Amino acid sequence: MALVSMKELVEHAWKNRYAVGYFESWDLVSTLAVIDAAEKMDAPVIIGFNGGFLVNQERNVKENIFHYGAMGKAIACHAKVPVALLLNECEDFSTMVQGILAGFNGVMYTNDQGIPPQEVLTLVKRTVEVAHLCGVYVEGEVGHLPTANGEKEMGPMATLSDPEEAVRFVRETGVDALSVSVGNVHLLEKGKAHLDHSLLEAIGRAVQIPLVLHGGTGIDEGDIKTAISLGVSKINVGTVLKRVFLESLIDSFADPEVEHSNVHDLLGKGGKKDILSRAREKLSEEVARFITLLGSAGKKDLR
Ligand code: 13P
Repeated sequence: MALVSMKELVEHAWKNRYAVGYFESWDLVSTLAVIDAAEKMDAPVIIGFNGGFLVNQERNVKENIFHYGAMGKAIACHAKVPVALLLNECEDFSTMVQGILAGFNGVMYTNDQGIPPQEVLTLVKRTVEVAHLCGVYVEGEVGHLPTANGEKEMGPMATLSDPEEAVRFVRETGVDALSVSVGNVHLLEKGKAHLDHSLLEAIGRAVQIPLVLHGGTGIDEGDIKTAISLGVSKINVGTVLKRVFLESLIDSFADPEVEHSNVHDLLGKGGKKDILSRAREKLSEEVARFITLLGSAGKKDLR
C-alpha cells in the first residue's frame, strides 16, 4: 500500500458509512503504534502531527516540520494499509504551507487565537487554493470546541457550529471536510461529551461534505454510530493515546525488573523489558479499540 490521498480515504468512509480515524502521534514510536493497530485491523488510517504543537514557541528545541513530513511519508509508504498524512490544527498559513511542502497530504487550520471570522475565511480560502494545486486535502472548522482541563468545562472561545455559517464557509473556502462543534470537547478524560444530534444532522444536510469530529477521547461511545449515520466520516483521537502511553511508562518504572535491568534491555532492543516497546503495544491496543468503534476495521481495500 502507499500514501493515499486523504480525499480517497475520507470519501470512502463517507459513502460507506464508517469513520476513518485520525490518531494523533508525536514521534516515531507513537506513529508506528498507530500503524501497528491499523495493520492488525486491516483498516485505512490517518496518521499525523499537531501543527500548532510542532511550531509552539515554548518548545525547548525548535522542531523542523520537514523531519515529520519525511518520517510520516516513509511510514505511510511502507504500511500494509492505506494511510493519509495530516498536519492537524495549524494556527497559521505558513505552518500549513510548510506542511504541504514537507509532504503532508492533508492540512487543517484551527482558530485558537480568536481571529475574526472573515479573516479566517480569507486565510482558509487561500490555503485551499494552494493546497488543491498540490493535491492536498483541506479540513476547515466552523464553531470552536471547548477544551476540558480534565473535567468538562467550556473555554471562553467555545461556540457551537451554526449550519448557515457552515454553508457559507464551505461555499466560499472550498474546503474538503468540515470540523464541527456539536457538543464534543477537546481533551476530555473525565466523563463523556454528548453530541447534539439534531444540530449535527442540520449541518450534514446543509453542507453535503464529510464532517469531522475532534475530541474523540471524550465522545460518548454510543454517540459515535449515530454521528456516522449523520455524515461524520473522520474522528480525531489524541489525549487518550498519550494517557495510555504515559501510564505504560509509569507502570514500567514501577516494575522491579526494570529497575535492575541493563539499559540496553530497557531502551532500543525492543524486547520484553523495553519500556518504549511496551508503551507502543498499549497505545496500539487503544487505537485498535477505536478502529472497531469507528467501523473502519476490514476496510483497507477501500471497496
Ligand atoms: P482529544 O485529544 O480530545 O482526543 O482530541 C483530539 C483531537 O481532536 C485532535 O485534533
